[in-house]
Amino acid sequence: MTRLVPLCPADDVWEGAIRQAELPDGHKLALYRIDDEVYATDDTCTHGAASLSEDGCVDGGQVECSWHNGRFDIRTGTACAMPCDAPLKTWPLQIVDGQVCVALPGE
Ligand code: FES
Repeated sequence: MTRLVPLCPADDVWEGAIRQAELPDGHKLALYRIDDEVYATDDTCTHGAASLSEDGCVDGGQVECSWHNGRFDIRTGTACAMPCDAPLKTWPLQIVDGQVCVALPGE
């Protein structure tokens, strides 16, 4: 079972930008729009404590962390450029009634 948790209006996620969102437990996510699809990853870079929504930029299908120029594939979370070698967690999304919702394990 999963439960859908609304994060923000889908219209607030723009191509080329990164929107921060928060899970009910305070965990921060980064939302992206690529080719009109919305994706979510953890907001915190796996190399350090950088917030990708604050200190990252989108380049094609990748996000680059400005702290040390590491990169991740936004769709898969795969680390694409050193010094990042650990993948970024990705989160399953659905758009429901114009809201970006994340699918979390439910009871
Ligand atoms: S903290 Fe992101 S590349 Fe170092």
